[in-house]
Amino acid sequence: MKHLIDPTDITVEETDEIIHLALDIIANPKKYAEHCKGKKLATLFYEPSTRTRLSFTAAMMELGGNVLGFSEAASSSTAKGESVQDTAKTVSCFADLIAMRHFIEGAPFAASKVSGVPIINAGDGSHSHPTQTLTDLLTITRELGRLDNFTIGFCGDLKFGRTVHSLIKSLSTRSNVKVVLIAPQELRLPGYIRHDVCERLGVEYKEVSTMEEVMPELDVLYMTRVQKERFLDEDEFDRVKDSFVLDRKKMALAKRDMAVLHPLPRVNEILTEVDSDPRAAYFRQVENGKFVRMALICKLLDWKNDPEHDTPIHYEAFEDKTRCCSNAKCISNLEKVPLLFRHTENGPDRCIYCDNKPRE
Ligand code: CP
Repeated sequence: MKHLIDPTDITVEETDEIIHLALDIIANPKKYAEHCKGKKLATLFYEPSTRTRLSFTAAMMELGGNVLGFSEAASSSTAKGESVQDTAKTVSCFADLIAMRHFIEGAPFAASKVSGVPIINAGDGSHSHPTQTLTDLLTITRELGRLDNFTIGFCGDLKFGRTVHSLIKSLSTRSNVKVVLIAPQELRLPGYIRHDVCERLGVEYKEVSTMEEVMPELDVLYMTRVQKERFLDEDEFDRVKDSFVLDRKKMALAKRDMAVLHPLPRVNEILTEVDSDPRAAYFRQVENGKFVRMALICKLLDWKNDPEHDTPIHYEAFEDKTRCCSNAKCISNLEKVPLLFRHTENGPDRCIYCDNKPRE
């Protein structure tokens, strides 16, 4: 069985299969209208969402299947103290697939360890958002016509932006993708992505502090929102919230065919005056999210009983009851799950659930 918890759970070939299927669905929607007849998708959303939850719902409906679930934890037995793993075990008795969004990092991974059906991580805290990555890859394919040989600038909140972390991981498997990181010091990309992904896998990257200095060299500009809900300190949020704003003046510095992506929602980081620019791809990106989730649902159901498509074991996890994860928002600090870590090459051990360092 294949779960999608992290973008690296699917190989480059499997990722390309999903993207090609999405392109075929776009070209021939009627062909797929009954593809999931009799199948059920459960959407378990413990955190707010517009695009991800509704695009999963629309995707399953357009495939002829059904959807059940909840959109806030308060309306589920979580409110009575039920654990993530017990909820996943329970819902896997009712559904063929589960898409889970959770504010607790590592919750979908913990769910995948006990679920009888594939778990899709629909976003876990600041950690990972692999279906947004598929959306971004389909969008780049449609906007640029390729998934290699381009320069992408990530701008804004690179610390808490789970979509950024997941997309950089996925792009590390493509050739000649150059990464430019545009962020204030407080919102720098976490060390585990810079060291474990960019440096170890040879992704060429640089960090800059203004948009203007790099606009002319970008093929894709990936804007992000500064996420107020992830800050522990409101003063720190106030200091950085207006750091980078895309307007017409900055767009004038960019290539004529640069694509502007944003996972959305936006607050003020892209002025609405940019929306009418043909390079503004973020609402096309929203629609791509539905098509790529249709393709993902089809593939995970196809792969369910195929051992060739099992979720890979990327790393040897080991249990260590003498240490705990340094991340207070990690499931290993909030629910009863085994304390699992992995070794890294030339670096500190990492928590298996959220990739943070252990607290010694
Ligand atoms: N891009 C994204 O995850 O949007 P939602 O939070 O609205 O699902």
